[in-house]
Amino acid sequence: MKVTVVGAGAVGASCAEYIAIKDFASEVVILDIKEGFAEGKAMDLMQTASLNGFDTKIVGSTNDYSKTAGSDVCVITSGIPRKPGMTREELIGINAGIVKTVSSNLLKHSPNTIIIVVSNPMDTMAYLVHKTTGLPKNRVIGMGGALDSARFKYRLAEALGAPISDVDGMVIGGHSDKGMVPLIEKATRNSVVVSEFISKDRMQEVVEATKVGGATLTGLLGTSAWYAPGAAVSELVKAIALDSKKMFPCSALLEGEYGLNDLSIGVPCVLGANGIEKIVEISLTDAEKAKLAESAEGVKKTNGLLEL
Ligand code: LAC
Repeated sequence: MKVTVVGAGAVGASCAEYIAIKDFASEVVILDIKEGFAEGKAMDLMQTASLNGFDTKIVGSTNDYSKTAGSDVCVITSGIPRKPGMTREELIGINAGIVKTVSSNLLKHSPNTIIIVVSNPMDTMAYLVHKTTGLPKNRVIGMGGALDSARFKYRLAEALGAPISDVDGMVIGGHSDKGMVPLIEKATRNSVVVSEFISKDRMQEVVEATKVGGATLTGLLGTSAWYAPGAAVSELVKAIALDSKKMFPCSALLEGEYGLNDLSIGVPCVLGANGIEKIVEISLTDAEKAKLAESAEGVKKTNGLLEL
C-alpha cells in the first residue's frame, strides 16, 4: 500500500511516523509546500527505520504531486492549526481553500485514492472534499471520532483507576468542543457499563474533559496536539490496508442515516479496503439522539460558511 500524507507539520509527521512504525505500508510520501521540509522529515524518519524495525519507505516532496501518484490512501493534514483560545471552526477561512486545492491535486495523480481528512474544522472539511471532488461517500473519511474516542478512553481509565485496555467507549458527533457526543451510558469496563463503578457526577466530568480534550492540549502546547491525532490516523489507514473491517467512529457523509442528511459527521463506520464499507446505525437513547441532532446543527452552521 502507498500512502500520502499532505502536510509535514507536527500532525502530518506524526501520521507518517506511526504508519511507518506499524510496518503495513510499502511507501509513505510526505508532501509540504515549505521548501525541503518534507524531505527533511522523511530523511529523519528513514533514519529511524533500522532502530524501530520497519521497512516502509518514506519519501519527502516539496509540493511535487507527481511523487504521490498511485496512492491508495491520502491523508490531508494541511492548513493552520488552532492557537490557544481558538475554536476549530475559526480556521475555516484559510483551511477551506487549502483543502480544496490539495484534494484536487491529489486526485489528479491518484484517481482511485481514499482520502482521510484531518484539517480543521474537520467535519466541514470532509464535507467540502465530498462536494468539490464528487468522490463517493466510502472514499472520504473524516478523522475525529477515533481520536476523540481515544481521549475518552484515557479519561475513563483515569476515572475508573483502570488500565486503558480494560475500558471501551466511543465518541460520535462533530469533532468540536461543543459537538462531541461521548456515549457514556454505553462505555464499559470489561463489558460492564461504567455506571456500575463511578457516580453520575464523575461520568459527567469524564464527558466534559473528553469534549475539551483538544483545547486542553492546545492550551498546554500552544498549538494543536499531534501524537494522538497521528496515532488515530495510522489506525484508520491500517484498517484500510489490512481490510480489517474494524469499526471506528468517523466523519461520514450522511444521507438519511441517523435521520440526518447532507453533512459529514462522526458516526460508527466499518473500515476496510474500500474505505467506509458500512455506516453502522446503533440504537441511541433519546438524550443521545438529541445531542447528535444538536451537534449536526452546529456542523451545518459551519458548513454554511463554505463558499461552494
Ligand atoms: C485535535 C485536533 C487534531 O483534536 O483537532 O487535537
